[in-house]
Amino acid sequence: MAYQNFNMDHQWLPFTPNRSFAKDPRVFVAADGMMFTTHDGKQVIDGISSLWCVAAGHNRKPINEAIKKQLDTLDYATAFQASNDQAFVAAEMIAAMAPGDLNKVLFCNSGSEAADTSLKVALAYHRARGEGHRNVFIGRERGYHGVGFGGMSVGGIPANRKVYGTALLPRVDHMRFIHDPVNHAYIHGQEPVWTEDLLAELENRILPLHDPSNIAAIIIEPISGSAGWYLPPQGYVKRLREICDKHGILLIFDEVITGFGRLGCNFGADFYGVVPDMLNFAKCVTNGVIPLGGVICSDRIYDTMMGAHSNAPEHAIEFFHGYTYSGHPVACAAAIATLELLKQDKLFERAGQMGKVLGDAMHSGLKGLPNVIGIRTLGLAGAVELAPIAGTPGKRAFDIFMTCYHHGVLVRPAGENLVVCPPYIVEKEHIDRIVNVLADAIVQHA
Ligand SMILES: Cc1ncc(COP(=O)(O)O)c(C=O)c1O
Repeated sequence: MAYQNFNMDHQWLPFTPNRSFAKDPRVFVAADGMMFTTHDGKQVIDGISSLWCVAAGHNRKPINEAIKKQLDTLDYATAFQASNDQAFVAAEMIAAMAPGDLNKVLFCNSGSEAADTSLKVALAYHRARGEGHRNVFIGRERGYHGVGFGGMSVGGIPANRKVYGTALLPRVDHMRFIHDPVNHAYIHGQEPVWTEDLLAELENRILPLHDPSNIAAIIIEPISGSAGWYLPPQGYVKRLREICDKHGILLIFDEVITGFGRLGCNFGADFYGVVPDMLNFAKCVTNGVIPLGGVICSDRIYDTMMGAHSNAPEHAIEFFHGYTYSGHPVACAAAIATLELLKQDKLFERAGQMGKVLGDAMHSGLKGLPNVIGIRTLGLAGAVELAPIAGTPGKRAFDIFMTCYHHGVLVRPAGENLVVCPPYIVEKEHIDRIVNVLADAIVQHA
């Protein structure tokens, strides 16, 4: 199909430079396995699981069939005051995969909605316990929690925040970023070991400033994904849990990227051996086919919210929150089929194995190239960081992304990084091709 067949005047593209896109469009018209077909008939490798979503590769028949069957059975049903069978089955499967007492799934449709939902649960939970004054949230510099006002406020990516001023939530603070470009520029499948205590700032400055008794929740991505795959120091996540426990603060893991196998296990929580109070998910759960997100809450949170209503009339709603499409039956049918497929094909284990292949390829193929100042790989993902061009932040990474695309490889520019996070079905030949094309593009733009 030639793209002249459609009019490009009416779609305002998200997180995309629209003016340059119009001059050099990138339009996919079909996908299968690891490959896209473009509007002008080219093949492009999906080196980023289409924004970290397509774990099992494109066009998986069991998922497609489950969706078709669900459409012919129950297309949609109201989510309020009633529900559907698929939502219960999907919730049970997801709760069974989650660690500890994370057993109650509040569905939504995206990572942004999951972020805002989790922040609202935190406030409602503390109020239910008689601590409604706990309303301070703490995020982290360069954290990404989507584009709702809550997620933006606890998020720490400056470009996403800078034009929203006082519309951002008040009473939000941010922990410092987790990167040390001098001592830990290159990370190859291991947790960086810092001599400095990165959480001393939280304990000694941020908590005393707000008073810990006022803090509702701390939210982190176990690994900073959207910023460019930045990894926390060894012991950081565990110590954060201890600090939260000491002060009665809820810990929220935003696992929209680390959830469902990217690190070779179910969740980042499993990888770090830490159980949060809430775990947000969205990507991969339906293999990207249909939007679905959610927050897995602990039994303690749920029981507290229900307990607070023990004297309320039976018809009283305990949590005034939800989306028209919470637990949509077609999305949940897709999730059930996806989770079955991931399990049946042992794709989480495969992500772990292929992560080593990717890590080896990125470190051996990219280290030492012009302007490369860091490479971080862990699980089935990696980022190569480049020295910025003075005065035009992000341009080098964008130009490299474009050149890779024109050579049939989709990678993701994130600040000064190029990120690679392929579907778990990736083969060594794809990885070699992705890294070779990336290497050539880095040299070309030196
Ligand atoms: C950690 C994290 N949280 C939230 C989001 C937002 O998800 P969505 O784009 O589905 O709203 C993302 C998206 O990349 C993410 O990586």
